[in-house]
Amino acid sequence: MIVMKKIYLLSILAVILVCDLSTFSLQAQKVIRGPYMQSPAPYSIIMRWRTDSLTDSRVNYGTTAGSLTFHADSATPTTEHRVKINGLSARTKYYYNVGSSTQVLKADSRMYFTTAIDSTMSDPVRFWVIGDFGHGNTAERDVRNSYYNYAANHPADFQLWVGDNAYSDGKDQEYQDKVFDTVNSFGNTFLNLPFVPTSGNHDWNSICAWTAPCNTDPNLQTGPYLNIIDPPTEGEQGGVASHKKLFYSFDYGDIHFVCLNSELGATSAANDWLGVQRYADTSFNSSPMLDWLKADLAATTKKWKIAFWHQCPYSGQDNLTELSSFQLFCIAARNHFNPIIERYGIDLVLTGHDHNYQRGNLINGHYGYMASFTPSMMLNNSSGNDDLGEAYIKYTNGPLAGKGAVYVVQGNSSEGNSYSTISHPAIHWGEACDTCYGSLMIDVNGDRLDGHYFTSNGVVRDQFTIKKQAWTGIDEEDAAFDHFYVFPNPFREQTRISYTVLKKCPVKIDVLDARGKVVMAYFSGYREPGDYQDMIDMDKEYLPEGAYIVRLDCGGVVKYRKIVKAN
Ligand SMILES: [Fe+2]
Repeated sequence: MIVMKKIYLLSILAVILVCDLSTFSLQAQKVIRGPYMQSPAPYSIIMRWRTDSLTDSRVNYGTTAGSLTFHADSATPTTEHRVKINGLSARTKYYYNVGSSTQVLKADSRMYFTTAIDSTMSDPVRFWVIGDFGHGNTAERDVRNSYYNYAANHPADFQLWVGDNAYSDGKDQEYQDKVFDTVNSFGNTFLNLPFVPTSGNHDWNSICAWTAPCNTDPNLQTGPYLNIIDPPTEGEQGGVASHKKLFYSFDYGDIHFVCLNSELGATSAANDWLGVQRYADTSFNSSPMLDWLKADLAATTKKWKIAFWHQCPYSGQDNLTELSSFQLFCIAARNHFNPIIERYGIDLVLTGHDHNYQRGNLINGHYGYMASFTPSMMLNNSSGNDDLGEAYIKYTNGPLAGKGAVYVVQGNSSEGNSYSTISHPAIHWGEACDTCYGSLMIDVNGDRLDGHYFTSNGVVRDQFTIKKQAWTGIDEEDAAFDHFYVFPNPFREQTRISYTVLKKCPVKIDVLDARGKVVMAYFSGYREPGDYQDMIDMDKEYLPEGAYIVRLDCGGVVKYRKIVKAN
């Protein structure tokens, strides 16, 4: 009898033990990062997540919530899960959950994705640009929430990073706390919004910090940022294969995206793929990255070309892209990236690094310091605001075919600064202050690209439009002249006006005072088609300081520019 009791008690103990182990097993296996999505494509997407113990990997998915009839697997036990889902339909919404072949470990109503458009589709494309965002602070939270409000009725197709993603050193734990966290960061955002990344100097601190010169061959570099991202490197989404995560390209509809790496400097010339050691040497134009860039841009036939990297080539805040030991990477990027991308007709360049927002005019050919900027490099110095009739035009043929790019610094998505006001001849407008946070939405629809910078408070503070348009030359209705601008402005004694006469016309140039009275009749006569520059010497006419208006009349087509003479 005693023996029977012992057997009975042991049986109960065994059952309890099994139940406890089972419970322990279920509790132990949980998702501790993600899921998040990489390489959003028309027919595939990559799903990544992290678990706290080894399991195999499964994504269940389907086009109806609650009926996830398909799955994609990876059999190798791991805590770093990566499953590529193939065979998807373009521009289609899928619901999903993740786990192992035996259990679902994470399911949520926010877990869905929409595949990209394919090359036959002309649907609008929207992407959300954030930069220097990885502080995990309330500013990052507010920028994230401002996106939810701004895009409530039209979510982005993906989020685009311009670097400095996780402060201060791009460590894995910093990504965990300041990027994948759900309170102030994007942990829940990533459940349905893929991100497309580039790296910044802070991310590179855990790969090959420039403050401790690195001789490592970039081909051999590893680190948290490179472990986390999963971009298309083999040309599988269009573009020329880079075979490395350091830089890559891909197509999305009729847009060709190029991700460059502005951190690849080294003390060894052979490993200095950006050309930091020859930062001011414009003859430096060959490295594995630059050679790939040339081949990639030469091959694309997409209507729109957008490049993104971290270190901003132009900054009007505290002369941050002038000669400084801290900004050699910015200067190198300007000198070595810009001539190549402009040669191939780049439309838009997205960068970060400075903790502010700055947006350029339509410019071309400026690869040196601020003082070397000349009026001929300014293709359109208007606001770019289409609501004012001032959109930037990128001509698809003719003498200006493919000329002109807009450069943006979007570096205040979690931290601001207030070193000084923003002033640079290549920059149209920007804002910088201790509490100025924001992000940028880009919409591409056919021949039109729109950018809207909105603050963490939800206020749109800048907008610009680029339009693709055929050149109609002298037959262009009302376009007797173009590219009318004044530089410098304000000025002390002299300023230069530049303009392009498109068809022969009687030109009359006058300077008016604030009441509209002509105070200086500068020029009157016919001019042939061509580019003109005229120097207006206000001192010569003994005109006092103040605001004036330059009036340019070309055969009855009249335009005005406000100028300011100051001490
Ligand atoms: Fe930076």
